[in-house]
Amino acid sequence: MELSRVISCAFQGIEAQTVEVEVSLSRGLPSFTIVGLPETAVKESRERVESAIKSTGFEFPLKKITVNLAPAGIKKEGTSLDLPIALGILSASGQINPTYLENTLIIGELALDGRIRTVKGVLSASILAKKNKISHMVVPLPNAKEAGVVKGAAIYPVNNLNECIKTLGKDPKEPFLVDVNEIFRETSKFDLDFSDVKGQLTAKRALEIAVAGGHNVLMIGPPGSGKTMLAKRIPTILPLMSIDEAIETTKIHSITGNLPPKISLIAKRPFRSPHHTISYAGLTGGGTYPQPGEVSLAHNGVLFLDEMPEFNRNVLEVLRQPLEDGFVTISRAKTTIAYPARFMLIGAMNPCPCGYFGDAYRECNCTPSKIDRYRSKISGPLLDRIDMHVTVGRVKYNEIMDMKAGESSESIRKRIKKCREIQEKRYKKENLYFNAHLDSKMLRKYCNIDEESKALLNSSMEKFGFSARAVDRILKMARTISDLEGKKDIESSHIAEAIQYRTLDRKLWLTK
Ligand SMILES: Nc1ncnc2c1ncn2[C@@H]1O[C@H](COP(=O)(O)OP(=O)(O)OP(=O)(O)O)[C@@H](O)[C@H]1O
Ligand SMILES: [Mg+2]
Repeated sequence: MELSRVISCAFQGIEAQTVEVEVSLSRGLPSFTIVGLPETAVKESRERVESAIKSTGFEFPLKKITVNLAPAGIKKEGTSLDLPIALGILSASGQINPTYLENTLIIGELALDGRIRTVKGVLSASILAKKNKISHMVVPLPNAKEAGVVKGAAIYPVNNLNECIKTLGKDPKEPFLVDVNEIFRETSKFDLDFSDVKGQLTAKRALEIAVAGGHNVLMIGPPGSGKTMLAKRIPTILPLMSIDEAIETTKIHSITGNLPPKISLIAKRPFRSPHHTISYAGLTGGGTYPQPGEVSLAHNGVLFLDEMPEFNRNVLEVLRQPLEDGFVTISRAKTTIAYPARFMLIGAMNPCPCGYFGDAYRECNCTPSKIDRYRSKISGPLLDRIDMHVTVGRVKYNEIMDMKAGESSESIRKRIKKCREIQEKRYKKENLYFNAHLDSKMLRKYCNIDEESKALLNSSMEKFGFSARAVDRILKMARTISDLEGKKDIESSHIAEAIQYRTLDRKLWLTK
């Protein structure tokens, strides 16, 4: 019996795990079996492998072929095991030198004519190779840059089976290196800018505070007031990602096959704006073969839900877990997978179905019950996780006509960067980065206020009927506002400003 071994990997959640592809050829009726928990796409690789071997001019052994994917306990999905299986067969049948396959991690999908197609999850595979000190890695040519982001194994990019066999055993002529710094330099360029938005000073200020302290925001305003326009410019003021954050985000995009062509590393914070018809699985992740959803694709970035009440209420409810924990869990019969999902939530909505409730120029023709039904789509517990409610009013004619450009994103970003540095320093010993994530115990520790502020909070609690939770939110926002000014303590002016961003509690939008 002839035997061969090839190193490859399978994916669990967003992590890659080593899989050993064992191929044995024995006498008996010609057959080709794959064992070791292969899913449909892996079982189908038999046809691709056989055809690719034959059309490349090699011999497909007329023997009893058994492929074992070890460890047998984890499910193997996708097409990335095609190439290791084919090379395993060629090695077991003595057509290639088995030493070529030593210490080499191999992934790739085969076309019937022997071409090698791109696969998902290459970045995670490359991280695995580095972790396990594997010296070489064979990847499909289009995935080479993605693999090269991690400085670990030497990368062999290959285009087809024939070329793959020719390059195996030789050290890559030019090691595939990706200049990560160059990728980061590119990221400070944006097509949009906050200076495009005329007027809306309050909304802009609110978004600056939100980004600085990691607060979730709901923008409320009539049609055409610029909510979508403002939200789309948020990425331009987000602080740059660190390399670790970039790799974590890229892993998620790579596993879903969402990495744009020619992009090897997502170095800009993601901005995801799913349509309101999105399904439960689309938002959180899931499906028969679990895939990360929009909340995970927005990891380390922004999830923007435009026209928020149009989303299915049950779909919105699933946001509660990631907003609280920073990840989502997906349960399947045998396993539970956790996908990272730490994002800033930005919602936008009209005050009522027709959009003109509270507008000074147009009359609203919605009945109170219709308005209530519309607003109740966003449940109390979800609303509770949103620190800031911001009114985005109609822009005035003279503001629109003003030719002077407003403040640029770049200068806003500078202030935000400073503010984030202050938070980083303060929370060094806590497992925390932003004011928005302070829990009630830490709130008492870091958000002390003087008598004047206490009196102000007290009187507004009575006047507006703020709940205890709303007060916590106000304190966190006030902390951020104070940090933006570089102050040590929270002052009453900070509290007063924070109260402005609780319009829903202040019942400005009340129908009854
Ligand atoms: N403050 C502003 N400065 C410059 N242009 C603006 C402003 N507000 C709105 N506009 C213009 O109006 C268009 C519509 O704005 P936008 O789509 O952001 O409105 P919206 O508040 O999201 O409305 P809707 O509630 O209907 O979704 C923008 O594309 C822009 O051209
Ligand atoms: Mg809009």
